[in-house]
Amino acid sequence: MKIDGSVALVTGANRGLGRVFARMLVSRGAAKVYGAARDPAAVTEPGVTPIALDITDAERVAQVAAQCTDVSLLVNNAGVLRYSTFTGAPNLEAARQEMETNYFGTLSMCRAFAPVLAANGGGAIVNMLSVTSFYTNPFDASYGASKAAAWSLTNGVRLELHHQGTLVVAVHAGFIDTDMAALTNAPKVSPESVAQQVFDAVEADQVEVLADERTRTIKAELSRDQELIYPAVQEFWDSAIQGRS
Ligand SMILES: NC(=O)c1ccc[n+]([C@@H]2O[C@H](COP(=O)([O-])OP(=O)(O)OC[C@H]3O[C@@H](n4cnc5c(N)ncnc54)[C@H](OP(=O)(O)O)[C@@H]3O)[C@@H](O)[C@H]2O)c1
Repeated sequence: MKIDGSVALVTGANRGLGRVFARMLVSRGAAKVYGAARDPAAVTEPGVTPIALDITDAERVAQVAAQCTDVSLLVNNAGVLRYSTFTGAPNLEAARQEMETNYFGTLSMCRAFAPVLAANGGGAIVNMLSVTSFYTNPFDASYGASKAAAWSLTNGVRLELHHQGTLVVAVHAGFIDTDMAALTNAPKVSPESVAQQVFDAVEADQVEVLADERTRTIKAELSRDQELIYPAVQEFWDSAIQGRS
């Protein structure tokens, strides 16, 4: 589908990658861009229409879908990362928040907007996933589980909405230079590079974006993950634990 003339809605549009998604949609000629955020006053990009939305609030999600009936491009960008291990976290609070936001929030948005997109000719859904959809890293273990669930969701929604002509794009990335990755000095891809690849993919009817070299390598190694991926992750984690003790 063409970005030019489309009507887009971006979740988490107040900062980070979501803000860049919204800005780029305006610059690529979208006719209207709804910038959804928990605090709509924080959506300040020129040309973007703020809208209040917490994606974990199913009632509000339904209201927004009923209000924004012109949407043809849904960008499920909002997400949360709590840097939480499976067995070392003090309780399930972080894991539940990540699953509620990254999986159930995205699911809720897909369900609410599927009929809207159908009514507008099919359109497209972009789901912002992660390289951690593909493998577990103890540093962000429960986040990875939520992104793996969202990857499965994305593949399923694509199958289910094929008949109505909706393109469903899975976007996987390693570290992106936003607040979420501020704690690490590892190499990061710019949010502008991710957004550009995403909208190029939407225009080219591509179902997957692997946004950086590390993500492309990990995806290519998946069929031999226990041999090619997990030994290095284990070594890194073991040395991190030793460094702490
Ligand atoms: N940065 C990375 O390294 C990286 C890598 C791969 C994938 N991703 C994914 O890319 C997406 C964007 O992340 P980012 O890097 O821009 O992170 P960020 O700078 O932390 O921004 C996260 C955005 O999500 C919003 N959000 C969180 N929970 C929400 C909720 N319940 N309802 C509505 N909005 C909510 C935040 O709103 P508030 O301002 O209200 O908190 C904020 O706008 C996320 O899905 C993330 O998992 C990020």
